[in-house]
This record gives sequence, structure tokens and C-alpha cells, in this order.
Amino acid sequence: MLAYRHAFHAGNPADVLKHVVLLRALRLLVAKPKPLSYVDTHAGAGRYALAERMSQRLTEYLDGVGRLWQRDDVRFALQQQPGAALPDAVLDYLRVVLDFNPDGVLRVAPGSPALAAQALRADDPMRLFELHPADWRALKAGFAQRRHTTVQQTDGFAALKSVLPPPSRRALVLIDPSYELDADYAQLVGVLRESLQRFATGVYLVWYPLLQSLQSQGLSRRLRALAPGAWMDVQLFSAPARADGFGLMGSGMFVLHPPFGLLQAMRDCGPWLAQALGREGAGRFLVDAHMP
Ligand SMILES: C[S@@+](CC[C@H](N)C(=O)[O-])C[C@H]1O[C@@H](n2cnc3c(N)ncnc32)[C@H](O)[C@@H]1O
Repeated sequence: MLAYRHAFHAGNPADVLKHVVLLRALRLLVAKPKPLSYVDTHAGAGRYALAERMSQRLTEYLDGVGRLWQRDDVRFALQQQPGAALPDAVLDYLRVVLDFNPDGVLRVAPGSPALAAQALRADDPMRLFELHPADWRALKAGFAQRRHTTVQQTDGFAALKSVLPPPSRRALVLIDPSYELDADYAQLVGVLRESLQRFATGVYLVWYPLLQSLQSQGLSRRLRALAPGAWMDVQLFSAPARADGFGLMGSGMFVLHPPFGLLQAMRDCGPWLAQALGREGAGRFLVDAHMP
């Protein structure tokens, strides 16, 4: 149990998609003055030093944020050179990554709580859950100075209901499990169903892997069936299917109650991400939505 460490994967193409969607959703939500709670059920360590052993073992970030970082159009856009253009949501994400790497050398990949903290206002509460003892310690240390923030070493699936609904009745909930166990898929669907009963109007973001397994392929369908209201579902394929049936082909983000503007932002940047991150002709971006 708990063999998964996100440091092996931080900054990979799946993280890029997740973090671009997360950041844009938060930007849109904080445009309204009412307080917003941020809940991260599987928060990870908060930030990842890319030179460390785990990141260097698989160097997945080189196919993700590292690949973007190498591009001339990214460098020019970050240097604000005239004529340099990137899709807004991608540029915003990369600017936040630059905040963590101010000399321009990519050494740190911010995780979801670190990105969220950049977008939230100082008084917006954060509720972070992480089970792994080492990652929890790192997360707790990283957020020790932030007010209105709790960092708990507990099962985020089980704890979610304890923080819903939030006092402000406005929240973005990121559910980003490691899918180490087949049971995670069913548990996720059950937790989301229960969360909707407690807090029907929340904005829920669910990351999921695109694998060749049946569980993975059925998850998006199950999430759509659960959603009573508006939803959007984006999928970024970045690697070809392997003959042995293993490996990640890409990932998806399912968003329940997407803030207005998120769908368009992803339509604007998805094809660019697929072109930039797709390997061996596998780059593909799909978007589907239901906006009643
Ligand atoms: C995909 S990673 C999270 C990455 C992070 N959200 C980000 O984007 O930077 C999943 C994390 O969930 C943790 N984890 C696994 N099962 C958990 C559970 N039931 N409750 C809370 N955390 C869990 C793992 O230790 C791992 O750090």
C-alpha cells in the first residue's frame, strides 16, 4: 500500500493538463468576490524538485512541462517578446511555473496545492489531504505559513464529506487519486455521488488516467452518468498505445459545474497542448460537454 509517489511523475503531460485546467478554473472562480474554499483530496507533496532521485528515475517531466520549457515560442512568450503568442491558459500556467523557477532554469514543478495557492486570495481556505507520511510532512511544512489552511494526513476520499458544504458555500474540489488499486475507481464514483448529496453546487474536478484497462475506459462514462448538471470532459492523448497493454496513453479531466469560460479556454488551448506534448503522432485532444 502507498507505493505510489508523485515525485516520479511530477510535471509529466498528465500533470500539465490537470494543472492547466485547475489554474484556469480557479482564476475564473476568484473573479467573483465571495470567498472560495479549495479542497485537494490527494494533494501530494505540494512541489517537486526535479533534480531529486525520484524525478530523475523516469524523467517524465521531460515529456511534459520540460518539453514545453524547451520551446522557443514558450521562451519568447515568457520573456514577453513582441509577437510571441501562446493560448492564454497555457501561458498563465507557465508563468506560474516560472514563479517557482525565477532564473528560468526548470528545477521545480509546482504541485496542485502550490498552483492553487498562487491563484487563491489570502483569505480563501485550503483543505489539503495526503496519506503518504513523507509527502504529508513536506506539504505541511510548505503550507505552515499560510492562514486558513489545514493539511491532514488522512484518507481524502473519506474526509471529503467532513468539509462539505464549506461555510462560504463556494468550493473547488480537486480529486486526483493515484488509482493504485482497482477499487479506487468505484470508490471515486461513490465519493462523488455522496459529495453531490451534501454539496450539490460545488465545482468538482476529477483527474483520471487514459489506460487500456476497462476500469479506466469506463470511468468517464460513469462520471457523466452521475452528473445531474453541467459538466465538461477533456482528454489529452500524448503517447501511443503500447503492445503490452500497459502504460499511460494520456489523461482526462472531468469537471462538474465548470465555471463559465473554462470550456472555451480548453477549446482554445487543447489542440496546442496535443501538438506540443504528443509523441510519435499520438497527440490528440478531445472535449465533450453538457451545458443544460
Ligand atoms: C496523483 S498524486 C497527487 C498529485 C497532486 N494532486 C498534484 O497535482 O500535484 C496522488 C497522491 O495521493 C496520495 N494518496 C493515495 N491515496 C490517498 C488517500 N486515500 N487519501 C489521501 N491521499 C492519498 C498519494 O500518496 C499521492 O501523493
